Amino acid sequence: MATPRILSGIKPTGQLHIGNYFGMMRPAIDWQERGEAYYFIADYHALTSVHDPQAIREYSRGVALDFLACGLDPAKAVLFRQSDVPQVTELTWILSCVAPMPMLENCHAYKDHLARKQEEPALHGLFAYPVLMAADILLYDSNIVPVGRDQKQHVEVTRDLAEKMNRIFGKILIVPEASIRAEVETIPGLDGRKMSKSYGNTAPLFDEEKSLKKKIMGIVTDSTPVEAPKDPASSSIVQLYRLFASPAEVAVMEEQFRGGGVGYGDFKKRLFGAIWDYFAPMRTRRAELESDGGYVNRVLREGAERAGAVAEKTMARVRSAVGLR
Ligand code: TRP
Repeated sequence: MATPRILSGIKPTGQLHIGNYFGMMRPAIDWQERGEAYYFIADYHALTSVHDPQAIREYSRGVALDFLACGLDPAKAVLFRQSDVPQVTELTWILSCVAPMPMLENCHAYKDHLARKQEEPALHGLFAYPVLMAADILLYDSNIVPVGRDQKQHVEVTRDLAEKMNRIFGKILIVPEASIRAEVETIPGLDGRKMSKSYGNTAPLFDEEKSLKKKIMGIVTDSTPVEAPKDPASSSIVQLYRLFASPAEVAVMEEQFRGGGVGYGDFKKRLFGAIWDYFAPMRTRRAELESDGGYVNRVLREGAERAGAVAEKTMARVRSAVGLR
């Protein structure tokens, strides 16, 4: 593979958190050095759960700022808003026409919804979500898709749809691969379950100091007393600390866990300090970018133009292959 095309997206449904950062943003930012990177704000996807126009706009702008503050470089990667390239909805329809219902019925977001037996019926947008995501990936001829573990199934669906299209219409689509970082497969949340917005157990990247401290101090622990030895391997404090501290600092904490005599409160304070320091340069950068009112809009406008040009080429090929032009 000469220069790989890398693509990923993130949904603007609220404040981004450290699970988003290590699962998707950090890997995506690393990839911008190694290929042609396209990253987008998945606002069409956000509409499946957010029905508040003001919130969609604010979250979208927030995601762009967060991404840029964390190191996405618009000179290296194309950053755009999904809805600025509406051809993706056209490709979604075409893919829908070869997408087997059972494959979509097996996708976890829809299955989870049914399992929770809520009164609200599942929305078609939620059901069709994986097809839109496949269209995102295939529209840009992507080779590699850096995502968190939870998105693996969606990339599998994308591969199946691309292969099926290619069997029926000739080789018109690139079959992509997911890239998932083993070391950050699951980031524990404040309650010990996987960190996820839907569990309400997240630590936001750009929170107020007091608010973040309160969240970290609220991490759920067992009731082992201060004096007693504690198990570092099963502790989400240690797991999180590993993401922010040096190996030597982690070794010290593990030693103190095993030795007893230090309480969870102390460990949590140390974890908070490490998180706060880690994001300090990004916080400064974010404030700078935010004070330049037009910057984000300029980046997104240019991103939309570059992404749109690629999308139009793919669509010309697809339309002609399926018999629409
Ligand atoms: N579904 C992804 C998430 O919730 C976001 C997303 C939408 C995406 N389209 C994509 C990720 C295409 C990678 C590629 O995290």
